Amino acid sequence: MASPVAVVAVPLFLALFASLVSAQISIGFARNFSFDHRSPDVTLCSQLIRPAGYACSEHTIQTDDGYLLALQRVSSDNGNLRQNPRPPVLLQHGLFMGGDAWFLNSPEESLGFILADHGFDVWVGNVRGTHWSHGHISLSVKDKDFWDWSWQELALYDLAAMLRYINAITSSKIFVVGHSQGTIMSLAAFTQPDIAEMVEAAGLLCPISYLEHINSQFVLRMVNMHLDQMILAMGFHQLNFRSDWGVNLLDSICDGHLDCNDLLTSITGKNCCFNNSRVDFYLEYEPHPSSAKNLRHLFQMIRKGTFSKYDYGIFKNLWQYGQLQPPEFDLGNIPESLPLWMGYGGDDALADVVDVKHTLKKLRSNPELLYLENYGHIDFIVSVHAKEDLYNHLISFFMSRVKSSSLR
Ligand SMILES: *[C@@H]1O[C@H](CO)[C@@H](O)[C@H](O)[C@H]1NC(C)=O
Ligand SMILES: *[C@@H]1O[C@H](CO)[C@@H](O)[C@H](O)[C@H]1NC(C)=O
Repeated sequence: MASPVAVVAVPLFLALFASLVSAQISIGFARNFSFDHRSPDVTLCSQLIRPAGYACSEHTIQTDDGYLLALQRVSSDNGNLRQNPRPPVLLQHGLFMGGDAWFLNSPEESLGFILADHGFDVWVGNVRGTHWSHGHISLSVKDKDFWDWSWQELALYDLAAMLRYINAITSSKIFVVGHSQGTIMSLAAFTQPDIAEMVEAAGLLCPISYLEHINSQFVLRMVNMHLDQMILAMGFHQLNFRSDWGVNLLDSICDGHLDCNDLLTSITGKNCCFNNSRVDFYLEYEPHPSSAKNLRHLFQMIRKGTFSKYDYGIFKNLWQYGQLQPPEFDLGNIPESLPLWMGYGGDDALADVVDVKHTLKKLRSNPELLYLENYGHIDFIVSVHAKEDLYNHLISFFMSRVKSSSLR
């Protein structure tokens, strides 16, 4: 006879796997997993950037905690900004994405290519754990310690290391563009004076620091199920939706029971300008892995409405931080002199307008704002109209800073 525990556990497991598998569809719609990112000849430069006719070089940098990250440097011979040296811009992707996110549409539509065409010296960030990053000096991806990080480390170690490297090579302050988790990382990092001083200006797409009003019903359901704790309790430290169990479940769920396109909408909000005929191509690259601890940290933000360091529970907090509650990232510490630009969407279920306003209230500066009523979370990266709707505004903002900085 089945014990009551088992009877409860089976539906919970099914719900857990269903949610896990569905969750990644939100960001990546994974379906075709044949692409092998691990071959050394398969780099972001070789796959997406050089074939489009752009010069691209691969760089490996090491973070202070031993992770080896890939950075790509992209330029166009047709750069129409006759500035020498060209101003560097760093593109920082979001959760479950990699540096490929900026190059997924045609050169006329993708921000990475468009910035290069404008003559920027484009640098592409790839955080620890993504397919393009190169592991760790001593840990293997199979070690649970390899996955012992959240966006806090992505901000204070990964983004810091990228900026220091670009700053050392170009002897220039850097323009930063972030999307989604890339904006969480940026805002957290800019509260640190030694990081903020390397930044010329920043453009934040779907800016997030507070997640209290996230209105994605799907994400809220996972939060209420305490899926984050369950995953960790079950011994998963890496969230990799290209693993066998993820693929099998994904196929059966997508093909049988769920409309995965509607699921995207229920998680990210309605995306106005998504090119459905490109889904198979996007799936060759997305989703990238992340850590279970990172998901938990994001869910803590949703539950508590704070923009704080990771909450270990009071006793470990005391040991880790010297206080019972994790310290907050105080947006008031971002220098008023750091120019910020933000693009946010009325249909974005993850970066909710109420939370964006909360972020604005905490900042000392008044960022330039672009509100796109019909944009959802993914539109900011792959909208077929993003150039006219969005990127041209961002680039004008950067260009005005290039002129003033070249007067120095
Ligand atoms: C998956 O990728 C392989 C190899 O790139 C390709 O031959 C196949 O048609 C793809 N399948 C789908 C469903 O797109
Ligand atoms: C949508 O994707 C298809 C397939 O890649 C492409 O041929 C088409 O040009 C794209 N449409 C737009 C508006 O970008």
